[in-house]
Amino acid sequence: MTPSASARRAMRKSLAKANLYNMDIALPELKALIAKQFGLTPKHIFVGVGSTEILNAAAFIYGKNGGEILTSDPTFESIHVYGKTIGASLKKVPLRDDFEMDIPALRRAMSRKTKLIYVCNPNNPTGNITPDRKLRSFCEEATKKALAFVDEAYHEYVRDRRYKSLIDMVKAGKNVLVSRTASKIHGLAGMRIGFGIAKPEIVSELEPYMTAMSLNNIVGLRAALASYQDTDHQVFCLRKNNEARKVVTDLLDEMGRQYAPSETNFIFFHTGKPIEQFQAEMQKRGVRVGRPFPPYLDWCRLSLVKPEQMSLFVRAFREVMA
Ligand SMILES: Cc1ncc(COP(=O)(O)O)c(C=O)c1O
Repeated sequence: MTPSASARRAMRKSLAKANLYNMDIALPELKALIAKQFGLTPKHIFVGVGSTEILNAAAFIYGKNGGEILTSDPTFESIHVYGKTIGASLKKVPLRDDFEMDIPALRRAMSRKTKLIYVCNPNNPTGNITPDRKLRSFCEEATKKALAFVDEAYHEYVRDRRYKSLIDMVKAGKNVLVSRTASKIHGLAGMRIGFGIAKPEIVSELEPYMTAMSLNNIVGLRAALASYQDTDHQVFCLRKNNEARKVVTDLLDEMGRQYAPSETNFIFFHTGKPIEQFQAEMQKRGVRVGRPFPPYLDWCRLSLVKPEQMSLFVRAFREVMA
């Protein structure tokens, strides 16, 4: 989705102040807004260059000197990529056949060396949720020994009632760090604004690693400030995303193709063809699809676009699968 009209207006206006360093109060204003929306205080919030920076900082702090990071697999890979760079010990637990996190296996995989547990809910690349009932009890238990990093990048898209944000665990003072981002439903990926939400002790530990050192990009801050107040635009984007998803699920149902229940702005489905071949065939027809996600090498992650643009995918998919 594109940025809201209000975010675009705010960005245009902020350009006139692009010559200034820290002469703007946008960062405290944004922290205060996010804190208020989540029922927390500004001390619970820090802002990164996208939520990727929050992920990288956590990977660095907890993964350095061979610290153990536990994740599901496949999941969003930033933490693996960055963790590998700094020599973290990465432990991956395969998802269940229905794509939910395998909570008993994650429990068993925890060791005395585990410093960080990364859970992505809804998960990327599969798009499904793991129900609150299961995830929460695991996090309650795990956070007695390690930090739980809960990546809620797709929170705003979720319709499944079995899902719940774990921000209330932050409120309760648990060892939980939740990340959110302006990149998804707010359509501001290029502006690079993401949030870390945790108890103040954890914020104090991680915030000094943010490369902007409170001098964040003013255009991005102003865009996020406008967008997070524009609930109409969020409702509109959610409706459009649901429409686009329905175009794809109707087609997959019609063609008898299996897919994971998507609660995000992408969908993960079975093609039965090697993904590289599928990618090339779709690309020839003007549609770029996601990369391989082992071990699901004949599955595809498709990002949703505007409902009216999904017809290009429908046509290409019918031809490729014919
Ligand atoms: C689950 C998840 N977390 C985090 C990110 C990073 O987003 P950003 O750095 O733009 O906030 C993404 C981006 O695709 C994602 O899918």
